[in-house]
Amino acid sequence: MAFRHFLRVDDLTTEELRHVLATAATLRARIEGDAKYAPLAKKTLALLFAKASARTRVSFETGAFMMGGHAVVLGPEVGVGTRESPKDVARVLSQFNNLIMARLFGHDQLLELAAASTVPVINGLTDYNHPCQLLADALTIVECRGSVDGAKVVYVGDGNNMVHSWLELAAVLPIDFVCACPPGYEPLPEAVAATRAAGLSTVTISHDPMEAVVGADVIYTDVWASMGQKDEVEARERAFKGFTVDSAMMAATGKADTLFLHCLPAERGREVTDEVMESPASKVFQQAGNRMHAQNAIVLHCMGLCDTVDE
Ligand code: CP
Ligand code: NVA
Repeated sequence: MAFRHFLRVDDLTTEELRHVLATAATLRARIEGDAKYAPLAKKTLALLFAKASARTRVSFETGAFMMGGHAVVLGPEVGVGTRESPKDVARVLSQFNNLIMARLFGHDQLLELAAASTVPVINGLTDYNHPCQLLADALTIVECRGSVDGAKVVYVGDGNNMVHSWLELAAVLPIDFVCACPPGYEPLPEAVAATRAAGLSTVTISHDPMEAVVGADVIYTDVWASMGQKDEVEARERAFKGFTVDSAMMAATGKADTLFLHCLPAERGREVTDEVMESPASKVFQQAGNRMHAQNAIVLHCMGLCDTVDE
């Protein structure tokens, strides 16, 4: 059977991404309304986590169950890259499971795993990117404002894996993307250059968050110290002074309907205030809930099962 990996947002074409987002909505209704719908009957997913997770684990495992399949959750004890090479892990899991979802540290490990896998591999986050999160983010923006197209999205904070996946999205959907970060915390220049070369979206790197957010349709942030960087918390706290998304920053957009999004988990009081997290502008829990709906669609897409949704 033909299958596809999903390792970065722009593994999807513009048309495929629009189709996956539309499928997520119809699939949600089908799963909720049709108790017999089971496109993953007798199929199993391996969910491999080298790093901590709440949303990714629960959304994939619950999604597999809701679609009639089964998920096997594997933790850091697998030792990808230490106990066993990524390619050996892939060749073993491929024989038992119909899809592998992997959250790993090094992106190169994910590429090695995917190259050796004979079943679809979905990226559940690496140090480089987090494409599943972007599917949920885009779905949330569609639900709230009708479309992602043309939105001014201002990411305030660390130019990290979330920013790289926003850049991947901006390569396939037309947006006005701004990353406002302290000097030295920019996204990788090659990721910025690739999106600019794709020619669909504008990409701006700013060091002035209050100026950057003017006119924003979406303000997005993430932790200042990602998993694997927790020994840098204090240094980063100093570097990111002035980058907390607070009510003054939300007001500086000059728009009454700016959305606030965060991939979570959030460190309230650092990158975002309690007040913004709890404000009507904040859609962070709708966004978290959309992880499952968006991922159910990408699982079917990767397995070539999207046609089952409208049967
Ligand atoms: N946003 C996200 O991926 O959350 P987890 O790390 O809890 O899976
Ligand atoms: N940048 C964060 C995202 C968590 C979902 C991290 O990698 O820890």
